[in-house]
Amino acid sequence: MHMSELDRMIARLMTQRICLDHAARELAAREGSVLEVGLGKARTFDHLRALFPDRTLYAFDFEVHAPKRLVPPQASLFLGDFRETLPAAFDALGCSAALIHADIGSRDREADARLAADVAPMLDALLVPGGMVLTDRAMDDVGWQSVPLPDAAPGNWPYFMYRKTA
Ligand SMILES: C[S@@+](CC[C@H](N)C(=O)[O-])C[C@H]1O[C@@H](n2cnc3c(N)ncnc32)[C@H](O)[C@@H]1O
Repeated sequence: MHMSELDRMIARLMTQRICLDHAARELAAREGSVLEVGLGKARTFDHLRALFPDRTLYAFDFEVHAPKRLVPPQASLFLGDFRETLPAAFDALGCSAALIHADIGSRDREADARLAADVAPMLDALLVPGGMVLTDRAMDDVGWQSVPLPDAAPGNWPYFMYRKTA
């Protein structure tokens, strides 16, 4: 059946909320920061902030286009191409993230696949063992364990959950 733009938005946002909530429960006992790779309008960043009130959060994007009230402090922002800012974040933060939400997708699937392949090893360097990556683009080649989406996820939106085992 045809998915309208409204259907697509609902499927996307429901999937994201259910998966992020699930990851917060899974990672309750795992120390580490939270990275939002793809700040965008800061919808999911704001949700992560509510889910992880005691953690340090960092956000990445080309530039800020989120509403002012949702923009993270300057010190938590890495602005520029992910391919440059993720290595810079590793230099600054080391391997310290418990959760990375890589919300990087566009309507150009081929460009997205190239971006996902480029950034996945960079995310891996930042992620602690036992940490999780949630993403809207497959990153199957890094050696992370694929985690099934929660039963509550609607199943009509591509989303991927991984855990770093070692
Ligand atoms: C799907 S949107 C993120 C939506 C956001 N999480 C939200 O909830 O509002 C993807 C974001 O990734 C950013 N982006 C895509 N490719 C990028 C790259 N190579 N470097 C930096 N930012 C990039 C875009 O500017 C866009 O804001």
